[in-house]
Amino acid sequence: HDAPSARDIQLASRTPPYQKLLSRLSEVRRVLGSSRQLTLAEKILYAHLENPEESLLSNTNNGREIRGRANLKLKPDRVAMQDASAQMALLQFMSCGLGSTAVPASIHCDHLIVGEKGADTDLSQSIAGNKEVFDFLESAAKKYGIEFWPPGAGIIHQTVLENYSSPGLMMLGTDSHSPNAGGLGAIVIGVGGADAVDALVDAPWELKAPKILGVKLTGELSGWASPKDVILKLAGQLTVRGGTGYIIEYFGPGVRTLSCTGMATICNMGAEVGATTSLFPFSPAHVPYLKATHRSEIADAASMITMSPMQQNLLRPDPEAVYDKVIEINLSELEPHINGPFTPDLSTPLSKFKSVVEEKGWPQTFGAGLIGSCTNSSYQDMTRSEEIVKQASAAGLKPKADFFITPGSEQIRATLERDNTLQTFTSAGGTVLANACGPCIGQWTRTDGIKKGETNAILTSYNRNFPGRNDGNRATMNFLASPELITAMSYSGSTTFNPMTDSIPTPSGEAFKFAPPKGSNLPSTGFAAGNLNLMPTPGVPNPSVDVLVSPTSSRLALLEPFPAFPSTELTNLRVLYKVKGQCTTDTISAAGPWLKYKGHLPNISENTLIGAVNATTDEVNVAYDIDGKTSSIPALAKRWRDQGIEWLVVAEHNYGEGSAREHAALQPRYLGGRIILAKSFARIHETNLKKQGIVPLTFANEADYDAFDACDDVETRGLWDVLKRGGQGEVELVVRKRNGGGGERVVKTRHTLSSDQCGFVIAGSALNLLARRGRE
Ligand code: F3S
Repeated sequence: HDAPSARDIQLASRTPPYQKLLSRLSEVRRVLGSSRQLTLAEKILYAHLENPEESLLSNTNNGREIRGRANLKLKPDRVAMQDASAQMALLQFMSCGLGSTAVPASIHCDHLIVGEKGADTDLSQSIAGNKEVFDFLESAAKKYGIEFWPPGAGIIHQTVLENYSSPGLMMLGTDSHSPNAGGLGAIVIGVGGADAVDALVDAPWELKAPKILGVKLTGELSGWASPKDVILKLAGQLTVRGGTGYIIEYFGPGVRTLSCTGMATICNMGAEVGATTSLFPFSPAHVPYLKATHRSEIADAASMITMSPMQQNLLRPDPEAVYDKVIEINLSELEPHINGPFTPDLSTPLSKFKSVVEEKGWPQTFGAGLIGSCTNSSYQDMTRSEEIVKQASAAGLKPKADFFITPGSEQIRATLERDNTLQTFTSAGGTVLANACGPCIGQWTRTDGIKKGETNAILTSYNRNFPGRNDGNRATMNFLASPELITAMSYSGSTTFNPMTDSIPTPSGEAFKFAPPKGSNLPSTGFAAGNLNLMPTPGVPNPSVDVLVSPTSSRLALLEPFPAFPSTELTNLRVLYKVKGQCTTDTISAAGPWLKYKGHLPNISENTLIGAVNATTDEVNVAYDIDGKTSSIPALAKRWRDQGIEWLVVAEHNYGEGSAREHAALQPRYLGGRIILAKSFARIHETNLKKQGIVPLTFANEADYDAFDACDDVETRGLWDVLKRGGQGEVELVVRKRNGGGGERVVKTRHTLSSDQCGFVIAGSALNLLARRGRE
């Protein structure tokens, strides 16, 4: 026999284990009864269970009520990590003492790269500025057999779509927009590094079985309406909390009219409504996309499965599958939308946007239009935008707003360069940024004279628009829209311009009106490979490689284990801070300049909760000690920790919404936090807290939020019992007022600790438990 080629080995590691998944699906059918109708998400998830019988039958009324109740113990097929979150994931993986990862994995260097002057300058500057981090990631990747995509190779989600995602796959990604890959029929869930470590060490990864929200698509997009508008509209309907606890599964006749990359855009922004993940069924558009990205074998295998009888059809929902909720969107009637500012669910149809801008007093001009990113840099997106630029250039127009383009990967960049699309953008005055996150993650220093605190507007085709997200200025109003709409609006520089109805005067005084763009879903001559130096290292472990971490580094620090739970109730807790309103993972662990300390827990902890609003005084990041003296929140936390005082934070709804950033859990733990008490939690963050040994509690009665003030003394009642009993029982908090008023009060709380998670808290963290099991 000939030895397998490098491509054969690579393809094998990137192909879902279909035979194994199909036999698991049969087992699931046996356990649940052959007449049970399953959604697509259920099929793929349950086919990845370590032990279907155990997960599906316990606590589920004998399999009748799985969704929302069963504790799924899953074995994902692979893991992808971005450079910011990979540091902590790898530091945690290293402390488990294994020689290689248990499943294939990849690292993508994208978040640490600025977007400012243009790709070449920004990339070399970012590589120089982050050299020790990239060297650490590359050396660890080589040692443990992880594919390493160097800086400039692309943004994680675009690279995953082009190389790893495929129908039926289940994957974890250490980034909240990992569900982007659901556009190609995979279940991909955004997690923190500690969850990724579960998969990397072959421990089952736990998930409360999500409910399934079906979105039925009918009709067909036309004119200015784009896939982005599907999710912008849905975000308006669902709000940032509406998808919590759900997988969004798209179905209906409209699915087959969408491009593969368009479906990825829709899944990407499912993160904005808090969904566990989003996915599409195997669709005709997947075949040409898989072929164009050199994976014909996977297209063939998936096509075979879809043609098989329904019992074995892993890639489509059963005909009578029941969704927990259904929303219908008629693509033929869909209008372009603009969402924002400051939250992705503030959705306005384009036809009403002018009047809303006027009514709310939002800026009528905007300084920059930014297109591309992991969300919207497909060939379709870029060629539709290119058509707009060509129309405007032919009319003698130049953009009035600064215009930035971020390609999602080297493959798409090289293809757009070959096909002269980038040339069209730059000739019109656009700036092509590196194939990296750049302005989407705050790595953007503006050069247009806007000062910090100055109210202004920008338009982006990105996915997230919390205050300060792009330029670090909390007064910048970031509006989200499709790339083609942003491109057209950049020519007027006005937020009130509607390219569907309005015209712009040309230099010769005529009225110019855009025609709706068409674009091409895929390049007719295939994708260009681009710079071969940006290909990944092979995923083969090499034990002789040393992992590079300098003991004097300010960027990287090996982890010290957290102390175990004290085997008793917590009697000496104090309220560090009572947070008012929104508290995202950006609020708890800010991005931007802090990204450079992702691998150094002591240093990054200096940003803990610095965006949090004080519920008593409305000040941001001003904490009061018991003597009334003020300091920053991290300074007070450190002081109390050093005095041996552990603390809790009291907060409102959806605490930890936003990203999978586990630092938002690690940092409070490192600084002495024990409990977060909130009205509700974002799912990923709640899990992250438990993994780091912090107990998330919610109020049994929300009004009890008012019972707490900063510096109150708090004691737990029942917590140690709950931990010992694997999550059975309830926890009360006894609050003693520091300010003398009100005496003592007992507040009832709720928790969602599973038996395994109780083990994490008792051991001090999930990692402590994994390392202990590894030693045993
Ligand atoms: Fe990067 Fe922004 Fe996407 S940070 S991964 S481009 S959401």
